[in-house]
Parts: sequence; structure tokens; C-alpha cells
Amino acid sequence: MMTTGWSIYVDLLVVVSIVGCFWLLWTNRTAPVDRVGRGEPLEHEYDGIQELNNPLPAWWSWLFIITLVFSIVYLALYPGMGSYAGMLGWTSTGQYDAEVDSANQRYGPLFEKFAATPIPALADDDQAVEMGSRLFLNHCATCHGSDARGGMGYPNLTDDDWLYGGSPDAIVATITNGRIGNMPGLGASLGEDGVADMAQYVIALSGRDHDAAAAERAASQYATLCVVCHGADGVGNQAVGAPNLTDDIWLHGGRIPEIEAQIRTGRINQMPAHQQLLSKEKIHLLATYVYHLSREGGLQ
Ligand code: HEC
Ligand code: HEC
Repeated sequence: MMTTGWSIYVDLLVVVSIVGCFWLLWTNRTAPVDRVGRGEPLEHEYDGIQELNNPLPAWWSWLFIITLVFSIVYLALYPGMGSYAGMLGWTSTGQYDAEVDSANQRYGPLFEKFAATPIPALADDDQAVEMGSRLFLNHCATCHGSDARGGMGYPNLTDDDWLYGGSPDAIVATITNGRIGNMPGLGASLGEDGVADMAQYVIALSGRDHDAAAAERAASQYATLCVVCHGADGVGNQAVGAPNLTDDIWLHGGRIPEIEAQIRTGRINQMPAHQQLLSKEKIHLLATYVYHLSREGGLQ
């Protein structure tokens, strides 16, 4: 709400502007005929260019006057004069609420019907998947891509590799509460050579060509520093979002320098919580869409 002082300030500015415009128009409605005759050149001249003593074009003046009259009518009907609410009582929040109400009335029953259907069954319903896909484009595609295949740092949601689990409950929990993947940097504990050896150990886990001696040197360090999160066999841990290191899917890149950087500096990666932004029913539809994609192997 505006204080009285500000309200008076705004009122004054508006009144002075409108009256000032009227005055300017009025005093310039005719040409000053006292000095030179109408249509005659005025005294000043610049580089041979002269001004003739003509009034403002009538159509232009009238257009201006109509604009001024419009502004007065508008300011009487709508809020614009300080804290005066306007004769129509219109507010932007009121209009927003009315639009949300009418949308809820229209779509509410549909959302309720979907919300009552378990996600695995709903994933076969074309209409639900279609609505989920539109929600996804609005709220998730900026990070996960419009095809949900993700990118560097943003997981692919169409495969069956999960940081936090692909069950309907896990997906709903991810969207509702968000997730924070946190791996500490281990460069200080390992030293630069240790980091390079550890990267060989990691690619050995995923079955790629590697330097066996280096991987061997890193084995005991892996058992002390990494096992808590990534597991003895490297398959990861969905409770903390530690990725499976034995497959060929890389959240932060699978090249040696990228793996070394991850080990050296660690990383904090965040999926934002959406419970403040989206209703339970919408999250249910989004989870259905993600579940559907991962089952279908993504958009075709
Ligand atoms: C600001 C970027 C951002 C937005 C917006 C976002 N996400 Fe995420 N999402 C992430 C990141 C980053 C991760 C990985 C978190 C991690 O590494 O721990 C993630 C992880 C996930 C996961 C877990 C994947 C797995 O393998 O377990 C799901 C599911 C997911 N997002 C779905 C969604 C949905 C649905 C939306 C839209 C409501 C959405 N995300 C919006 C960034 C985002
Ligand atoms: C406290 C738990 C924790 C420890 C300890 C830990 N990590 Fe991680 N690691 C994670 C998490 C969580 C991620 C995913 C980060 C994210 O969400 O972006 C990750 C990501 C990675 C990645 C990137 C995988 C990809 O798909 O791009 C590699 C490689 C990795 N860790 C290797 C290691 C190695 C090697 C060690 C031991 C030297 C180790 N981590 C120790 C939790 C841990």
C-alpha cells in the first residue's frame, strides 16, 4: 500500500502533467500572427532553411486532445492516481485470481482424476502424458532439454540410469524436494599423481582401456576415500546420488581430464525443489511424464 505522502506526490505529478499538456496545446493552437503573417517565414533561418508561421495541424492537435481525455477517463476507472482504487475496483492480483479460479474450475476435475491414478497406470494415458510434456517444456526443459536427454551436469531422464532412483516415488520426491549431489574435492588427499591414478581406476571400473599399474596403485585409496559413496564395486548409491561409475554414462564428462577434475575439485550439483512452484497434481503429471520417457527410452 502506498503512503499518503507518496500518493499526493503521484497525484500532483499526474495533474500537473495533464494540465501542462492542455496548456501547451491551447497556447500553440494558432500561429503567432502579431509578428509575421500566417504562412509567412519567421525571422530565424539556418543554412538557408526557414520556418513558416503555421499552426499545428488540426488532426494532430485533436489526436493529442483525445489522448488526454482518454487518460482522464482511464484514471477515473482504473487505479493510477496514487492510492485511489478506481471506480471499477480492478486489481492485477484480482484479475490473476479470477483467471486461476476459472482455470481450476475447468481443469481441476481432470487433475483430480489423474492425481488419483497411480503413476505406472497413468503413464499409458496419452492425455496425461501430453499434459505432463507441456508442463515439462515450461518448467524443466531449460535444464534437462526439450527432449529430456539432459546435457553436461544435467541428467538424461530418458534412460534407465538413475542418480536417485526411477521408481514413481523417487521421481516424485526428486521433483518435490529437489536434490543436492555433493562430492567433496579429493585433490588435497590424493595429490596430483594420485588424482591421475584414480582416474585410471575409474575408467577401469567402466571397463575401458586403462593403465593397469596406475589403477592398481589407486585401489587402496578408492577403498578408503570413495567406497562410502560409490560402493566397493563402483555402482554408486542412490541415497546420496553418487553415480554408477561402471557404466558408460557420464554426468560430467567421461574424458580423462573431466574425470580428473571431478576427483580433484569435487562438485555440488543441484536439482531445485518444485513444491513451492507446482501443485501436487502437476508434480504427479510431471513424474508420470518422466516415468513414461524412461520406460519408452525417450522421445522418438
Ligand atoms: C535449474 C535446473 C533444473 C531444473 C529447472 C530442473 N532440474 Fe531436474 N535436475 C537438475 C540437476 C542439476 C539434476 C542433477 C542433480 C544432481 O546431480 O544431484 C537434476 C536431477 C533430476 C532428476 C533425477 C534424475 C536421476 O537420475 O535420479 C529428475 C527426475 C529431475 N531432475 C526431473 C526434473 C523435472 C521433472 C523438472 C521440472 C519440474 C526438473 N527436473 C527441473 C537441474 C534442474
Ligand atoms: C560423499 C560422497 C562421495 C565421495 C566420498 C566421492 N564421491 Fe564421487 N560423486 C559423488 C556424487 C554425489 C557425485 C555426483 C555429483 C553430482 O550430482 O553432480 C559424484 C560424481 C563422481 C564422478 C562423476 C561421474 C559422472 O557421471 O560424471 C566421478 C568420476 C566420481 N564421483 C569419482 C569419485 C572418486 C574416484 C572418489 C574417491 C576418490 C569419489 N568420487 C568420492 C559422491 C561422492
